[in-house]
Amino acid sequence: MKPIYFLSIMVCLAASCTVQTPQDRLTVNDEKINELIASMSLDEKVQMLHSKTNMSSAGNERLGIADMNYADGPFGIREEGVPNGFTPAGWTTDSATFFPTGSALAATWSEELAYKYGSGMGKEARLRGKDIILGPAINIQRLPVCGRSYEYLSEDPFLAARLAVGYTKGSQDMGTAVCIKHFALNNQETNRGTVNVICDERTMREIYFKPFEAAVKEAGAMAVMPAYNKINGDYCSENEYLLNEVLRGEWGFKGMTVSDWGGTHSTMGAALHGLDVQMTGDHYLGPALIDSVKAGKVPEEVVDAKVREILRVRFAIEPVPADVANQATASQPESRQTAYEVASKAVVLLKNQNKILPISKDVKKIAVIGRNAVATVASGGMGAGVKAPYEITPLQGIKNKAPEGVEITYAQAYKNYAGMFARWFGLADSPDNAAEINESPDPAMLAEAVEKAKDADLVIFVCGTNKNIETEGSDRQTIDLPVGQNEIVKALSEVNPKIVSIIISGGPCDVQELDKYSQAIVQGWWNGLEGGNALADILFGNIAPSGKLPFTFPIKLEDSPAYAMGNFPQKVEVLGDMFGNQYRKDIQGQRMMRNIKVDAYYTEGPLVGYRWFDTKNLPVKYAFGYGLSYVDFKYSDIKASASKKAIKVSFNLTNTGDMDADEVAQLYVSRIDATVSWPAKELKAFKRVSLAAGQTQKVELSIPVSELQYWDEQTKDWTLEKGQIKLLLGSASDDIRLESTVEIK
Ligand code: GLC
Repeated sequence: MKPIYFLSIMVCLAASCTVQTPQDRLTVNDEKINELIASMSLDEKVQMLHSKTNMSSAGNERLGIADMNYADGPFGIREEGVPNGFTPAGWTTDSATFFPTGSALAATWSEELAYKYGSGMGKEARLRGKDIILGPAINIQRLPVCGRSYEYLSEDPFLAARLAVGYTKGSQDMGTAVCIKHFALNNQETNRGTVNVICDERTMREIYFKPFEAAVKEAGAMAVMPAYNKINGDYCSENEYLLNEVLRGEWGFKGMTVSDWGGTHSTMGAALHGLDVQMTGDHYLGPALIDSVKAGKVPEEVVDAKVREILRVRFAIEPVPADVANQATASQPESRQTAYEVASKAVVLLKNQNKILPISKDVKKIAVIGRNAVATVASGGMGAGVKAPYEITPLQGIKNKAPEGVEITYAQAYKNYAGMFARWFGLADSPDNAAEINESPDPAMLAEAVEKAKDADLVIFVCGTNKNIETEGSDRQTIDLPVGQNEIVKALSEVNPKIVSIIISGGPCDVQELDKYSQAIVQGWWNGLEGGNALADILFGNIAPSGKLPFTFPIKLEDSPAYAMGNFPQKVEVLGDMFGNQYRKDIQGQRMMRNIKVDAYYTEGPLVGYRWFDTKNLPVKYAFGYGLSYVDFKYSDIKASASKKAIKVSFNLTNTGDMDADEVAQLYVSRIDATVSWPAKELKAFKRVSLAAGQTQKVELSIPVSELQYWDEQTKDWTLEKGQIKLLLGSASDDIRLESTVEIK
């Protein structure tokens, strides 16, 4: 071990007794770091403030400071790219576990599982020689069509925050820093590189900032990635309010900020308003910065502060020794077990008419219909692909778990949709690809599917989207099921009414048609490399489903808040403002994007997701927090009390069924006679509880009073309003079982 590290660890141990907060952990080496900075030339300092390769920034060889290596994928360590871009390097030792994507992890409603997930990611990052994971991606799912809903966690800030904390702690406890992204209000892909989000401060604080604040203050996130977009006029990567006033000034962030790739916009802006590392290129935080310091435009102390924050992270993360990195596949058995566990608790049972699930022992022939039954989803979706060692598809899982003697048949039924990027790159003209996303099914394919369905005891229709439809760099135009799936399920039902439909997608879909012809509907997610096994274990009743929706399924897209308020889509689409164009145009300094003003108004305020539907009393297809089990749960004996510090709630929960099962109990608050406006209800506590058949368990939940504050835009501070609070305890946001009221004094 280099002497520098031994010394820094000794310094760390010596100083550890003075650490107050998770962020302060990063400052224990400051004395040593300041000495190093004093010994560095301006050139050496600035060398650390921009990319060295597409996925690394420089350390300092003379001083024995290792480079910083980054890795994409909030749900799997991305395969190695070539040094100057994203093209796969073609290694054979860079496969890694494909964990269930963000929205699936969120459907578990388990901070404990998020911790295990994060620790699996952190461990595998090190095996791939990486210091910082570019994740978790924790933006609020404001739009049902957002291309990155699958990466993100929830429409609710409290649920997203708890999972972000678990993931961050897990990864960093394994010695890998997280880089939480994309800070902040990156809630659409359309015009993502130029869009200027106009949002009131109370909404930002109480909704959009919450997951980032929790990951920084509670979990000690060591790196933050400012988003591509602007907020109230300034790019996130040079936003004084966002990066210096809030992130560093209020939240006490002591780590480093790393721009999104191609998301740096100026030397002075980035230098003076909070960006530490430009990824990629040195257009701004490179020679131009050196000139700006020499010209007296940027104080050298500003550069020193950036280097200090980078070195704080560098010394907190032990570099991976060369003889450990990339020696064999990063995917570890315990990670794959975690991936299975998360997947098995993520699957959401949305409908179960006539208890058609779990599959009866009488079923001897199952027709599995739909291309998504065999599609793998680990790779693709731009920045979030994973080269997985294997991937159990729904069909494979069903074959693995089907009881002896059950015959499984398969028909594709619909074509792939290759998406616009494929069209751009001329990859879309394979006969397997649909020309249009909403085209009717191929008659021969449909006929084959109907034939297979006709004499089956049960039809499992696997539908949904794919990672060309839901992807970084573009938003869906609708949430309709694509490529004729609605026509297919109708045709199947005409020959066999016993249909179980499985939606494989990242975000919500319009299931009005699917519901007419399906006796059961399951949300199967992009559920990781063990997803097929987890799904099949649930379908065959080996385990009970326990996932709960982390976002609302609207009846139709136009009901959702940003559409209903006319806030999305904006009427201007900046041609070419995608990952590719943005990346190329911005780094080459072309001005095409800067003179086009695209504002995104968030006038729905805090009424995101269920907050909108509940406050406006609007019906939804499936509510936030909704998910069925194979058993019922009884809630009883609620007791509630409030002190100055917290609201305490206890109740009894009984599994009244005949098999072990998990329930996610959810506690919402509703304000009584408040003087400020509030959504009808807000999630403030939850707990996943495992109960054996017939078992009753006393459950305790707590809400810190601090969680009840609102951001007062006059005083610019968090403010607690005293008064009555109604507590709503239940199995979903629209399935409240018990109520109580407490007084906040
Ligand atoms: C992308 C994404 C970001 C990713 C980065 C590196 O454009 O917005 O999430 O980590 O580039 O791939």
